[in-house]
Amino acid sequence: MMAGRGHPAITLLLLLLVLVGIISEAQGSGYLSGFRLRSRLQRDRQMRNVRPNIILILTDDQDIELGSMQAMNKTRHIMEKGGTHFSNAFSTTPMCCPSRSSILTGKYVHNHHTYTNNENCSSPSWQAQHEPHTFAVHLNNSGYRTAFFGKYLNEYNGSYVPPGWKEWVALVKNSRFYNYTLCRNGVREKHSSDYTKDYLTDIITNNSINYFRMSKRMYPHRPVLMVLSHVAPHGPEDSAPQYSAAFPNASQHITPSYNYAPNLDKHWILRYTGAMKPVHMQFTNMLQRRRMQTLLSVDDSVEKVYNALVETGELDNTYLIYTSDHGYHIGQFGLVKGKSMPYEFDIRVPFYVRGPNVEQGTT
Ligand SMILES: *[C@@H]1O[C@H](CO)[C@@H](O)[C@H](O)[C@H]1NC(C)=O
Ligand SMILES: *[C@@H]1O[C@H](CO)[C@@H](O)[C@H](O)[C@H]1NC(C)=O
Ligand SMILES: *[C@@H]1O[C@H](CO)[C@@H](O)[C@H](O)[C@H]1NC(C)=O
Ligand SMILES: *[C@@H]1O[C@H](CO)[C@@H](O)[C@H](O)[C@H]1NC(C)=O
Ligand SMILES: *[C@@H]1O[C@H](CO)[C@@H](O)[C@H](O)[C@H]1NC(C)=O
Ligand SMILES: *[C@@H]1O[C@H](CO)[C@@H](O)[C@H](O)[C@H]1NC(C)=O
Ligand SMILES: *[C@@H]1O[C@H](CO)[C@@H](O)[C@H](O)[C@H]1NC(C)=O
Repeated sequence: MMAGRGHPAITLLLLLLVLVGIISEAQGSGYLSGFRLRSRLQRDRQMRNVRPNIILILTDDQDIELGSMQAMNKTRHIMEKGGTHFSNAFSTTPMCCPSRSSILTGKYVHNHHTYTNNENCSSPSWQAQHEPHTFAVHLNNSGYRTAFFGKYLNEYNGSYVPPGWKEWVALVKNSRFYNYTLCRNGVREKHSSDYTKDYLTDIITNNSINYFRMSKRMYPHRPVLMVLSHVAPHGPEDSAPQYSAAFPNASQHITPSYNYAPNLDKHWILRYTGAMKPVHMQFTNMLQRRRMQTLLSVDDSVEKVYNALVETGELDNTYLIYTSDHGYHIGQFGLVKGKSMPYEFDIRVPFYVRGPNVEQGTT
């Protein structure tokens, strides 16, 4: 154990783990009988005292206030029953690149200077000053096998592999489900729009699970850090074909603040934002529906990751963290869609943790 002392990224991660349960002595009842399976691997591991795996599942633009978790029964079952739900979790900055830069470094925006999704997002100054200090670098230095799958930073252009990552499968530029390019360990890989070969949510799922299994087979004594960075439910909100008719009448986004406008007591954008027209309201209904549809594939992904942990005997030695880079609004205060506002719907995020000594079934 050499990493960490004083590094904000690691401090954040440690703080999180301490916060959620090293203090608590919860033995818990376990989730499914798989939890109690004691495979040979598991006994070996306990004897060798292998440090816990850490799997961060991150979504893009996923609200908690507009009911998106209602699309995710499997995830909620796995994370709520088997772990702790933090019902007051907030993004540092409700915008993709600033928030992601904070998650990676543990620094607030005024310290990493990525204020928007454009300037300084994955810029040369980010690469020189901040990227060499992400949690991946520190965990790699302390012996973790580190792997990243999915969306990185909006302006990442695939011309290099950031330091600290042993396995790197990252989306070039901003969110897409089809017709995108990945940087796979430095080699560009183009994808088109065949669901069975190219759907990004499934690529992230398949690739990460394969990596985890391979890593545990070849290096059973090495802990794994893995990030699954999904693009759902961000635009263009392309669902898997089998889910394209789900939630025909989704209306969770019609919250008390939906179309409540204008707001003369709030900041200037809201003073000037009037009520929506019917065409905008129709659009919000469609958007809610499409976003929820994309999350069904993420829900499947979480279950597959969970099953892989059970099958490899790694479940009880793994911290599984589920969250989003920030929230979202769909019609709140008359704002048709988006993020970056300093209100609950944009700053609150889903946040669930399960793992060794994390209390189960707690909020
Ligand atoms: C989630 O579970 C609830 C309660 O059982 C059910 O009403 C709902 O249809 C389920 N949603 C999905 C997306 O499966
Ligand atoms: C970019 O970051 C550098 C240092 O990290 C900072 O000096 C500069 O002001 C930032 N640029 C913008 C446009 O925010
Ligand atoms: C990618 O961005 C870097 C700066 O971060 C730049 O030097 C390089 O030319 C860009 N490459 C492509 C293919 O756009
Ligand atoms: C990971 O850490 C080891 C040991 O400190 C170092 O040799 C290696 O270059 C690092 N790998 C990456 C991808 O940063
Ligand atoms: C992907 O590109 C193909 C060829 O240009 C196009 O026909 C298709 O509509 C695109 N699909 C999506 C989802 O963007
Ligand atoms: C992911 O794996 C499943 C099961 O092996 C397969 O059916 C599917 O086509 C794969 N998807 C992608 C995008 O690779
Ligand atoms: C539910 O959605 C369907 C399909 O979009 C539509 O035809 C129907 O009118 C909707 N029902 C209600 C009650 O809104």
